Amino acid sequence: MKLLDARRDYYRRIAREEGYRSRSAYKLKELNDSYRIIGSEFFVLDLGCAPGGWIQVAVEIVGGSGKVMGIDSSYVEEVDRAHIIRDNIEDESIVGKIFSYFGEKVDAVICDLSPKISGNWSVDHAKQIALNYAAIKIMDNVLIHKGNALFKVFDGEYSNEFRDFVKKKFIKVQLRKPKASRKPSSELYFICLGYKS
Ligand SMILES: C[S@@+](CC[C@H](N)C(=O)[O-])C[C@H]1O[C@@H](n2cnc3c(N)ncnc32)[C@H](O)[C@@H]1O
Repeated sequence: MKLLDARRDYYRRIAREEGYRSRSAYKLKELNDSYRIIGSEFFVLDLGCAPGGWIQVAVEIVGGSGKVMGIDSSYVEEVDRAHIIRDNIEDESIVGKIFSYFGEKVDAVICDLSPKISGNWSVDHAKQIALNYAAIKIMDNVLIHKGNALFKVFDGEYSNEFRDFVKKKFIKVQLRKPKASRKPSSELYFICLGYKS
């Protein structure tokens, strides 16, 4: 337990020192270093972006010619060179809002969506997977052919079904638990490369 606490504190501390808003920033950095989900000049859509750690990392990676848009139902403080809106990703009007910012399809969709945690794992897991299906609906409208995606998944009884569903849509799907992810949490990340449609 002490070792886990130490690791959690480590990421929290370096996030503070390096100016990232969340420990999650290091999950995206690690996964992107291994899989290049996001690259220079990419157009990136971040679903469930508060407080903005992933947005900060995405802005650094895409550089001046890329574009980053984040959506969250909670308020997110502005991030330089990113467009952030407060909205529900399950709202029908969301795809129109995404196109009105990018003007075209995006190269990557990254999703770190979490429902409000009730403490009942089966309920939280089912809600989190439902959010991911809502994200897939958006993705199917906005992701370019051969684009990439990243989904957090609360691991549980519907994970395999979700994995099989995304596997049909991408050339390659890998499952990873990054170092910055708390060991006892059953979250996994699905790295999806090469969108087929
Ligand atoms: C773990 S946080 C994201 C952390 C973020 N990746 C970062 O690096 O700072 C998950 C977010 O999903 C958001 N969320 C959950 N359901 C949502 C919905 N229906 N629409 C928009 N955002 C939602 C929550 O408000 C929460 O801020």
